[in-house]
Amino acid sequence: METLLLELADYKKTGIISTADAEKLGCAAKILREGGLAAFPTETVYGLGGNALDQHAAAAIYAAKGRPSDNPLIVHISCMAELPPVVEEIPVRAQKLAEAFWPGPLTMIMKKAKAVPYETTGGLDTVAVRMPEHAAARQLIALSGIPVAAPSANTSGRPSPTTAEHVAEDLMGKIGAIVDGGPAGIGVESTIVDLSGKKAVLLRPGAITREMLETVLGEQVEMDPALERPLDASIHPKAPGMKYRHYAPKAQMMLAEPADGIYSAEGLGRITERLCREADERLSRGQRVGIICSGETLPVYEKAYGGREDVILASLGSHEKEENIAHNLFSVLREMDARGVEFIAAEGVRKEALGYAIMNRMKKAAGQNVVLV
Ligand code: TXA
Ligand code: MG
Repeated sequence: METLLLELADYKKTGIISTADAEKLGCAAKILREGGLAAFPTETVYGLGGNALDQHAAAAIYAAKGRPSDNPLIVHISCMAELPPVVEEIPVRAQKLAEAFWPGPLTMIMKKAKAVPYETTGGLDTVAVRMPEHAAARQLIALSGIPVAAPSANTSGRPSPTTAEHVAEDLMGKIGAIVDGGPAGIGVESTIVDLSGKKAVLLRPGAITREMLETVLGEQVEMDPALERPLDASIHPKAPGMKYRHYAPKAQMMLAEPADGIYSAEGLGRITERLCREADERLSRGQRVGIICSGETLPVYEKAYGGREDVILASLGSHEKEENIAHNLFSVLREMDARGVEFIAAEGVRKEALGYAIMNRMKKAAGQNVVLV
């Protein structure tokens, strides 16, 4: 146990731990408790964990990610008994939403307890809290005996990691250990709802939709205005992290949606035509092009570009199964980077339920470069 711990505490040799290895999971928990960093799987994306009550651990997380320290961290707990120590009070709405959706992909903003340092909350008097559903995540948090602050385990500005390999790409040699639980199920980050004010406000869309929140609360949930308008200097998103060029591939990206919002055969036809035109233009300038499409449109692109070495085709899956699209999105964006793509032409998805969260991430990846066809 002790030599194993020493090895894991050596950041130059980031250890990869299987979720099935109880002894090593115990070591990762000890690293967290003692102020070190360890990445772990959740059902949304992988997180980079550190002790939420330790200001130095929070500073180490920002350093490892290369993230601005005004961007607050989400505090992860494993059971309801761990909530009161990190918040000033539990609002009635939070109690209801926790009963309905925890453990799960929902983060709630509440007033912070004194014990949570401002380094963890990016200087705010509120704290974001989530109880993940992933078994290994909860086991690790419970074993560590502390609330675990964890942003997504990517280098700041890169797409969030959905596999242990993605985490290793970004953080190898910078953290103690990576717990490998295979691909994350959902693939986009948790829904964030702010419950610290008079009204419930949606700050980041995710797998728990606005409609699901409204059904449980029996009232309207407001939307952070920054979600619907392109960011400019006059709009400050309430989740500070939403202002950064997040989820971004290295390539420039163009996203196409049908003007009427309907992904019918006609709508998809207009999209493929527009994206092929853009791709051809880029190829004529000698650029390497990536096309992010769906199962429905892949054959069109295969016919146009099949066998070409300078065109990378990636289908996210069928429009009928948006869970698959969410699951594949960040992997595909990373793949485009890895293959040296300079321009990405991407097809949108229907903005309903999980599709709304997917489009939020795709628009960010495209730097709001969206064309309506
Ligand atoms: O699914 C997830 O939420 C993943 C996994 C690891 O749990 N975590 C994650 O963390 O996505 P991160 O740090 O990449 O995103 C946290 C977001 C940021 O946009 C941040 O600004 C916002 O939550 N946030 C955190 N605390 C906040 C607060 N007190 N008020 C408003 N926004 C807050
Ligand atoms: Mg993130």
